[in-house]
Amino acid sequence: MENKSYKGFNTKAVHGGELKIPEFGNVTTPVFENSTFVYPNYNSGAYLDHTSNLPYIYSRWGNPTLQALELKYSELENSKHGLSFSSGMSAIVSTVLSMCKKGDRILSISDLYGQTSSFFSKDALEMGIETDFINVEKLNSGNFSGKGYSLIYLESITNPTLKVSNIKSTAKIANETDTPVVVDATFASPYNQKPLDLGAKVSIHSGTKYLAGHSDIVLGMVATEEHLFHKIHSKRKVLGGTPDALQAFLASRGLKTLGLRMQKHNSNAAEIFRYLKQEKKVKRVFYPGDPDSQFFEAARQNLSGYGGMISFELKGGIEAARNFIKHLGIPSAAPSLGGVESLVTLPVDTSHSTIPPEIRKSMGIEDGLVRFSTGIEDPEDLIYDLQNALEVI
Ligand SMILES: Cc1ncc(COP(=O)(O)O)c(C=O)c1O
Repeated sequence: MENKSYKGFNTKAVHGGELKIPEFGNVTTPVFENSTFVYPNYNSGAYLDHTSNLPYIYSRWGNPTLQALELKYSELENSKHGLSFSSGMSAIVSTVLSMCKKGDRILSISDLYGQTSSFFSKDALEMGIETDFINVEKLNSGNFSGKGYSLIYLESITNPTLKVSNIKSTAKIANETDTPVVVDATFASPYNQKPLDLGAKVSIHSGTKYLAGHSDIVLGMVATEEHLFHKIHSKRKVLGGTPDALQAFLASRGLKTLGLRMQKHNSNAAEIFRYLKQEKKVKRVFYPGDPDSQFFEAARQNLSGYGGMISFELKGGIEAARNFIKHLGIPSAAPSLGGVESLVTLPVDTSHSTIPPEIRKSMGIEDGLVRFSTGIEDPEDLIYDLQNALEVI
């Protein structure tokens, strides 16, 4: 049942969107594992699908468990509407293709998640949609115009050097030409950032990460206004990136603790940052909450918490970095992020391995760079573990 009257983030997270059926007295949303529904449904009291305001027909179009998740999520984003997808990539591709057609141009930041980058530079290009890239530094300087672009695309915190995009100042410039700003806010989460409140028209998440929060599902979410909601929903129907009801149920369950988890991710990462900053074997630390960072002003203006992601460069280069992660006891070496458990990756060996070394260096990605997704374990255990592994190298 939709209830937009709750104020607090955690109350919305627990109670928002929950589908309670008085006949059953269920306390949490059931899993509607149905492909199809009775059609035509003449029941005058039928619960309506928010994507059509008609009774449900077919689960690729809409499903009650998905709707519960979408309503809960939209409350957390302070958005009129929310939509769920089978993956973050499905959410990104469906959104961009619903807003662009052949001959259109996109302005995007260059420090993108790998598959988003290849979507813009290969798949969208093959469909006649061209993308111009600018780096986050240029975006934040305000030295660009939205003129001639169908949308401006950015990520709120970039991977792996954790640059912070200034959504507020970008949206101000974009508004002069009525150019919609689309934000992938995966690294921030709606607890630390609500892009629509900052002037963006669309907020996208790889729900696989902080939203679901337990490294057990792949999912995407989109929050937006009325007009775009219907366009993006039409694209979801055609491209077929609708999640399964069980996936949606797990995401809803995860969302209930998003606020609590993010508080712990935020405070753990802040403690680890303070430790790494004074560690002699660490050359450089990347963290949105670093007051010495050139992105700190953007972080201060656009984030209410600095998140759980930290990257740091070891003085000994790639050998030291490989040796370091071998000696960590708590975090697994795995490429995802945003779960309750800490995870660690070496971008040079994983996400950025196919990029030539000189281009990697120009992006600030040195061989000894380690990306750390701080979980919700006890910070003293995490620091002890990092200390031990650093002693060995
Ligand atoms: C910033 C960002 N956006 C989008 C995605 C894609 O999400 P998914 O893996 O859920 O398709 C990822 C995945 O790592 C990501 O880190």
